[in-house]
Amino acid sequence: MSVFASNHPLVKHKVSLLRDAQISVKSFRELTREIASLLTMEATTQLSVENKPLTCWSGMISAPVLSDKQPTLVPILRAGLGMLDGALSILPCAKISVVGLKRDEETLQPISYYQNIVSDVNERQAIIIDPMLATGGTALATIDLLKSSGCTNITAIFLVAAPEGIAVLQDSHPEVDLFIGAIDEKLNEQGYILPGLGDAGDKIFGTL
Ligand code: URA
Repeated sequence: MSVFASNHPLVKHKVSLLRDAQISVKSFRELTREIASLLTMEATTQLSVENKPLTCWSGMISAPVLSDKQPTLVPILRAGLGMLDGALSILPCAKISVVGLKRDEETLQPISYYQNIVSDVNERQAIIIDPMLATGGTALATIDLLKSSGCTNITAIFLVAAPEGIAVLQDSHPEVDLFIGAIDEKLNEQGYILPGLGDAGDKIFGTL
C-alpha cells in the first residue's frame, strides 16, 4: 500500500480551516467538497489514457482520452456523502456505489445495512470516500465488500486519518492506496481522531 499525505498547500490550508471549533455548517460543507475535489485529482493520476483519432478545428489529430471505464465513487454513509459533490466535480461521469455500515452493538464490528455496488465493479477503479479514517473498521469492511463483489483496483480518500487506522488497512489490504488530507496524531479513548475535526458526519449534516 502507498499512503499519500497531500503536500498541496491548498489542502493543508483548507484542512486547517476545517479544524476551527467555531466553523459553520456551510463552511464545513464547502471545505469538505473542495478538499475532496483536490484529493480526487491526486487519486486519479494513474488513470490510463490511449490515443484516439479526433477531428479538431485544424484537422485530424491523435488525442489522449481515458481508456478504461470511469472509476466508481464509493461514499460510505453517511459522512462520505459530504465528499461526493467534490469528487464528482473531477469525475462527472463516475458511477456511484453506496455503502452503509453501522456498528453491531454486541460484537462492535461494522455490519452492512445497505449496499448498492455497480455491477461491473470488477472493471473499474473503486474510490472510497469518507472524511475520517479513525480505527479503520468501516474502511476495512468496505474494502472487504468491494473485493467480494469482484473489485481488484481500490483506492481510498480521507480528509483526516489516524496512524492507527492507516496501520489497520496496511496490514489487511497492502495493495490499497490511501490519499489523505492530513495524518493526525492519534485516537482518543472514544475513537475520535486528535486533533481531528470532531464528528464529521454531524458537522456536514448539521446534527450537532
Ligand atoms: N469519525 C468522525 O467523524 N470523527 C472522528 O474523529 C473519528 C471518526
